[in-house]
Amino acid sequence: MIKKLLKHIRGFRKAAILAPVLVIIEVLGELMLPSLMADIINIGIEGTGGMNYIIRIGGIMFVICLIAMACGVLSARYASKASQGFGANLRKAMFDKVQDFSFADIDRFSSASLITRMTNDVNNIQMLVNMGLRMVVRAPVMLIAALIICFRLSAKLTLILVVIVPCMGLAVGLLMRACHKLFGICQKKIDGLNDSIQENLIAIRVVKAFVREAYEKTKFQKSNDELTKSFIAAVTKVVFMNPIMMISFDIAIVLSLWLGGRMVIGDGLAYGDLYAFITYIFNILISVMLVAFALLQLTRARACAERINEVLDTVPDIRDGEDAASRTLPEAVGSVEFKNVSFKYIATGTGDDVLKEINLKINPGEFVAIVGGTGTGKSSLVNLIPRFYDVTGGQVLVDGMDVRDYPLNDLRNRIGMVLQNNVLFSGTIKENLLWGDPNASDEDMIKAAKDAQAYDFVMSFPDGFDTYIEQGGVNVSGGQKQRLCIARAMLRKPAILILDDSTSAVDSATEAAIRESFSKNLKDTTVIIIAQRISSVRYADKIVVLDDDHIVGLGTHDELMADNAVYQEIYYSQQEGVGE
Ligand SMILES: Nc1ncnc2c1ncn2[C@@H]1O[C@H](COP(=O)(O)OP(=O)(O)OP(=O)(O)O)[C@@H](O)[C@H]1O
Ligand SMILES: [Mg+2]
Repeated sequence: MIKKLLKHIRGFRKAAILAPVLVIIEVLGELMLPSLMADIINIGIEGTGGMNYIIRIGGIMFVICLIAMACGVLSARYASKASQGFGANLRKAMFDKVQDFSFADIDRFSSASLITRMTNDVNNIQMLVNMGLRMVVRAPVMLIAALIICFRLSAKLTLILVVIVPCMGLAVGLLMRACHKLFGICQKKIDGLNDSIQENLIAIRVVKAFVREAYEKTKFQKSNDELTKSFIAAVTKVVFMNPIMMISFDIAIVLSLWLGGRMVIGDGLAYGDLYAFITYIFNILISVMLVAFALLQLTRARACAERINEVLDTVPDIRDGEDAASRTLPEAVGSVEFKNVSFKYIATGTGDDVLKEINLKINPGEFVAIVGGTGTGKSSLVNLIPRFYDVTGGQVLVDGMDVRDYPLNDLRNRIGMVLQNNVLFSGTIKENLLWGDPNASDEDMIKAAKDAQAYDFVMSFPDGFDTYIEQGGVNVSGGQKQRLCIARAMLRKPAILILDDSTSAVDSATEAAIRESFSKNLKDTTVIIIAQRISSVRYADKIVVLDDDHIVGLGTHDELMADNAVYQEIYYSQQEGVGE
């Protein structure tokens, strides 16, 4: 799992190699110190070395300490550099991947979970890499070298380690197994918490309007409690680590002192050697302990790696058609055809078809309206044209070619779309409009703004087109936002312009002006609008009436008024009260 992610260390390989190499030098230094100390005791104090010897060896120890310290600091630095770089690469890879996700892919992961995966999960793995770069070589080098030295000092005493170290290993292994699943649950609970925070913050105005703060607080409390509980469940296992380690530690030291002490008295073991031996045991046990902590971190990181790989391994279900690049594309004239289309939401839906037996032909330059009650599938229908979702049956053709055969960018460049829940991005109005066409001239931009009836209110702001739009477009009104979104889509000069309920917040007079500018300036553009008000659609060339997942009427306003019951019902429901 984690191994698969390690390729993302690219660009930081040098640091990733230097960190462990420097650690080896540090460890070698540390390994020399107890033996030198033993010499000071055996030769300098007990033997004939005297003060001069003690000062000379002490000086050597001092230099070794300095070198080991420098190597330790540098290695920590390189390990941080490599792990931070690795984290950045990983986040970038995930972000790039998510950009290719289809709507369905995003529905499936949920955006909150994607955020957790890109931040918290990556952090955990980053931490492991940092620890790993220093621990991976430090512990084995320390363990093996110290064991060899201990063995040479006293084979009998080393037996203590041969018993204790595997016991510690076994305990850590069992703990890891118990924790893996628990950490997986923790990460899911973080998703849940982020979900609740994100939803609340995006919709904070609605929450306040409905005085739902108390409810939201309880909801947050619930996911917060669940997260706390899941962490406590994991941590109550992790805390066993400390006592296990400390007891093993103490047993080892007591045994060494007891057996070693007897050997100093009876078998002629040098006092300094016993001192060195105990120091080495200390070093060995500390490295085992550090490895144990790294392994625990590994358990958590493994759960995170699974979640990250899930994102990276996703093959977006909507991508360029097969050999799309080599196809000759039809001229962009703006025709759309639905051939016996059926559609359902596979990942998030109920399993029932949202659209059935849709047959519809829209000619270049036509002005087509789609009406129908809420939830009848209007948005779903138009979302199939730029291939936000793929049909589950039948075919959608744009300019005579199946949308699945286009390179996605070419297909979407033919289409200007104003989504039902459209958003502006933080940045100036101009920057937002230029999303439509980054190369548009100021004249083009002003013209699009005029056509969308946005020009006047934009100019009424002191900064005009340089007015800064806050995140989520909070500083413009609903109707202003809709008009800016329309201008943005128009600036693309698409062959097909789709407006999904995009004038719902605009007053009738302004809407009529927009419609007029469409008929004057967008003669060759196919315009497909979804609208609730009959007044918005009555002049359309063609009106499509959707009811309960299929088309129940198709014709002009007059034709439908003559013979379509559903259309008449919508019409009369909107006339009520008008004549009074
Ligand atoms: N992402 C989704 N996942 C699952 N089901 C969905 C999704 N989007 C819409 N639906 C379902 O598909 C059906 C049609 O929804 P759609 O948004 O197309 O309706 P609509 O006609 O545009 O309604 P409205 O006029 O309210 O915008 C609804 O029953 C809705 O619950
Ligand atoms: Mg809709």
